[in-house]
Amino acid sequence: MSVIANNCPEIIVTLLDTDQEKIINWNSSDLKKLPVFEPGLSELVQKNRNKNLFFTTDAESSISKADIVFISVNTPTKIKGLGAGYASDLKWVENSARMVSKFAKGHTIVVEKSTVPVRTAELIKEILINSNPEIENDSKTFSVLSSPEFLAEGTAIKDLENPDRVLIGGEDKEAIDQLSLIYQKWIPKEKIFVTNLWSSELSKLTANAFLAQRISSINAISSLCEPTGADIQEVAKAIGADQRIGRKFLNAGPGFGGSCFQKDLLNMIYLCRYYGLEEVADYWEQVVILNDWQKKRISKLIIETFFGTVTSKKCTLLGFAFKSNTNDTRESPAITIAKELMENGANLYIHDPQVSKSQLENIFDEEKFFSQRNNSDGNWAYIDNLDEAFNNADAIIIMTEWSEYLKIDWEKFSKLMRRPAWIFDTRGIISEDDLNGKNLNFWQVGRGFISLK
Ligand code: UGA
Repeated sequence: MSVIANNCPEIIVTLLDTDQEKIINWNSSDLKKLPVFEPGLSELVQKNRNKNLFFTTDAESSISKADIVFISVNTPTKIKGLGAGYASDLKWVENSARMVSKFAKGHTIVVEKSTVPVRTAELIKEILINSNPEIENDSKTFSVLSSPEFLAEGTAIKDLENPDRVLIGGEDKEAIDQLSLIYQKWIPKEKIFVTNLWSSELSKLTANAFLAQRISSINAISSLCEPTGADIQEVAKAIGADQRIGRKFLNAGPGFGGSCFQKDLLNMIYLCRYYGLEEVADYWEQVVILNDWQKKRISKLIIETFFGTVTSKKCTLLGFAFKSNTNDTRESPAITIAKELMENGANLYIHDPQVSKSQLENIFDEEKFFSQRNNSDGNWAYIDNLDEAFNNADAIIIMTEWSEYLKIDWEKFSKLMRRPAWIFDTRGIISEDDLNGKNLNFWQVGRGFISLK
């Protein structure tokens, strides 16, 4: 919405959220309080806020004035009921549609921006039309379009400013043209693809499924590299040079995280099963299985390196966000690895340039994890500096590829560690040249245990 406001000064963009605290923070003069950390976002908010970019909890006023409403709420995997563990929970999409149906005036274009299962637009239409008596006398009309979002966190502003493509799915040509004209303010027309509603919805799920599959593929090969002596970075470079494969998205790591890949894959698996496509569902499910396995194999490997016990060992996780340049920890592989290490008695110290202590508290103090814990389990602490991270540490585990971890002064910090000292690099970002001669042990994803000079 900030990018639309910035590119279209003549359009008034209002962000409506029912969470009052979030809106207070979006309106805060202290830009550090914005609820989302994203490079370049605070500058855009500061530039356009209260000019043509507004943040509000007032549903009635904002919806009644809107010509176009973008439904951009989350659609997490259902945790109970029909389809639990696979299907997307559409309750927030439904609530939003009901709100729009209630407050809209005149003709309103409703754009489905959230990632949704195929044929959700039908549900939205149904709610908009059937939940409202005023529809009968034509004083309220709606057009529903699908325009899924392809931005990645950490590079969101860049991706929105210069997208590979924009999708608009729908049948109402006039509504499609109106939305397209907004995008055309800064995106070349040939990058705006118009499709039918269902193709648009399915393209979004498919794009994420392909991207996730690519990561599980490279992670699978990373595990094969380690015992064979092949080097995943050399393999990735070699295969990526084939233009049919391409060099992007071939970084082996601790498994993909984030709010999208797993959820969208599970959603697609659910859809396939719904349509009786068992083999297709199994095929995509393997991408999720491999991803879970990659996380577990890394925590197991760390524990086995300490002869099966990390009890009372100080293990420091450098990075907790699911990728760099974001404070988002949803489905972060660091969560699985941290819990496994703690369950094995480790004393975990967690450092991340953007993730806050309260985010960690929400993750670890959640009831389920807590009730399963017993006295022999380890503990965790939040730290905000590298001195504490390294001081007396038995293991340093690089979990997120933050640029500041590339600049670690190993000469200085490695001296603080307890011997034998271990560095586990799950992102493949540390060069052994930096570790040589410092009495360290080193493991790197897709390369395995590397003997240092
Ligand atoms: C992903 C897609 O990339 C976006 O196109 C899509 O719009 C978005 O989901 C969404 O559906 O909202 P995002 O999850 O923000 O974006 O971030 P990615 O850059 O895709 O990274 C996802 C995970 O894969 C991260 O944990 C990342 O570390 C991991 N990854 C990525 C790798 O392990 N290796 C790689 O080579 C690339």
